[in-house]
Amino acid sequence: MLHPAISPNNVAVITGGASGIGLAAAMRFAGIGMKVCIADLGGDRLAAAEKKLASAARGGAADVMAVAVDVSRIEQVSELESTVRRRFGGADVLMNNAGIQPGSTMFGPLENWQRILGVNLWGVIHGSQAFAPHMIARGRPGLIINTGSKQGITTPPGDPAYNVSKSGVKTFTEALQHELRNAPGSRISAHLFIPGHVFTALTARGRTEKPAGAWTPEQTVDFMIERVAAGDFYILCPDNDVPRSLDERRILWAVGDIVENRPALSR
Ligand code: NAI
Repeated sequence: MLHPAISPNNVAVITGGASGIGLAAAMRFAGIGMKVCIADLGGDRLAAAEKKLASAARGGAADVMAVAVDVSRIEQVSELESTVRRRFGGADVLMNNAGIQPGSTMFGPLENWQRILGVNLWGVIHGSQAFAPHMIARGRPGLIINTGSKQGITTPPGDPAYNVSKSGVKTFTEALQHELRNAPGSRISAHLFIPGHVFTALTARGRTEKPAGAWTPEQTVDFMIERVAAGDFYILCPDNDVPRSLDERRILWAVGDIVENRPALSR
């Protein structure tokens, strides 16, 4: 069973869609028969992803669009929204997924913090602000799926800027869900998607082989699609990166209904 927004001929927009989890989601949506727009930094990688996507789409290239966008720039994200509306009539599914993890230190250069927060947190805010009002106005069931991280909940030592950005994504998505529930005529729901350890360009760090226990992007996307259909707000992927320490588990339990859906966490 699929969520009604994820249906043939509906429209999905995925930021960070040229690689990893975003591209895997785009391929799944295209395979279902959706029209798909991937938004990512431009260049050869985006062009190659568009070609791959067109081969999976039922309508071929006509059902696929790749737009060069820096999600940290609101004017570019607003332009993306207008482009999607002109070409496909509007979005039914928005996945704010673009993310970077270049590493950071607490007292390191402020520019690094600004860059990480600009993509990971502001990118999610920009996408939601630009698309949500139009998605509500469509009057159809819709989804905004924001990609967070376990690190935004548990704050492990190291990489503070990434942790802060993903913590912001969590809180922003909770606030967005309240707004969407109360907005007149809204049939849109927000979801916080927390991948586990997925083998992608972001996590490969020089490795060419998937580490044992890590998930593929396709596995994590299948899990996400299944849990969205079940109506979960928090979508925390089970994998072998499940927190072991009691403190870490307590923090995750505090996030609410995650545990009901996550038997592996209660180990
Ligand atoms: P990836 O590196 O394969 O894909 C990220 C995509 O975002 C890339 O195509 C990149 O070009 C794009 N991007 C970066 N800056 C951008 C910008 N300013 N504007 C538009 N696009 C931009 O990484 P992956 O693993 O697929 O990550 C996707 C999301 O999942 C990220 O938000 C990441 O933080 C999150 N995540 C990933 C985990 C993993 O284990 N891979 C675990 C937890 C969260």
